[in-house]
Amino acid sequence: MTTAIDVRGLRQGFGGRTVIDDLDFTVARGEVFALLGPNGAGKTTTINILTTLTKADAGTARVAGFDVRAQPVEVQKRISLTGQSAAVDDALTATENVVMFARLAGLGRAAARRRAVDLIAQFDLRDAASRRVRTFSGGMRRRLDLALSFVVTPEVLFLDEPTTGLDTRSRRDLWDIIRALAAAGTTVFLTTQYLEEADQLADRIAVLHDGRIAALGTAAELKARVGGDTVEVHDDRGELRREIATDGTVAGLRRALDLLDQEGADGVVTLRRPSLDDVFLAVTARSEKELA
Ligand SMILES: Nc1ncnc2c1ncn2[C@@H]1O[C@H](COP(=O)(O)OP(=O)(O)O)[C@@H](O)[C@H]1O
Ligand SMILES: [Mg+2]
Repeated sequence: MTTAIDVRGLRQGFGGRTVIDDLDFTVARGEVFALLGPNGAGKTTTINILTTLTKADAGTARVAGFDVRAQPVEVQKRISLTGQSAAVDDALTATENVVMFARLAGLGRAAARRRAVDLIAQFDLRDAASRRVRTFSGGMRRRLDLALSFVVTPEVLFLDEPTTGLDTRSRRDLWDIIRALAAAGTTVFLTTQYLEEADQLADRIAVLHDGRIAALGTAAELKARVGGDTVEVHDDRGELRREIATDGTVAGLRRALDLLDQEGADGVVTLRRPSLDDVFLAVTARSEKELA
């Protein structure tokens, strides 16, 4: 089996309003796949269907070789999902939570203990290991919640906006952990609102827009549609004076800078990477053109 996730014609609405409409995609085993979209785009709805928490209105989805509707227990055995903070017990310490979770997942006492020590360190909770979770900040709670989803290595790991609410360092640490898991063969399906995050982690990115996949491809393919980075020149009051779109290549950047030289441009030069807004603009402009 080389397909980890197979989605066909998936559709879901709430109260007569369509949220996801006719989604089709496949994710290969060992691939990191990002579903990119703004707030309310339907990312969590999609994850909930794929992890058997919600039954879709129409369409089929197979995860790790099993149908989410017909064989939910088989699917559940092979996946894990973050964002289930309900699993965290406030009255226990961080370590106790991980140990309990590991024991429930079938690890022996000593193995559970070792796993807890590793995960507490990986998720930067060492200083708080013996503190009750009740006293944790939002970011610490988030890291503990993530640690729990890494207790056992599943075939398919679902991460719903894993870095939302994390500081920059924790975000980068988590990226490293996700990359290591993927390198070891776990399929990762993650959602994000950040193009940069999808770019950093994902082999392929699906852009969710108006309940449909507006674009699907590698980060490089999406960026080619957006047109790469933009060179900006600001004056000393911070006002944008000049912007030049580049194709994202070194040669393209050099051409942009040569042009600025010729113009005798004066000011602070910065490179702006394409934002999620740029991707949506590019993708929606394209589909309007195709319709016309
Ligand atoms: N259980 C529900 N009942 C009614 N509306 C819902 C429910 N779940 C999600 N929605 C609506 O569906 C849309 C997509 O939500 P969601 O999948 O959570 O988006 P995202 O995760 O991309 O932010 C939103 O408009 C949300 O209000
Ligand atoms: Mg969501």
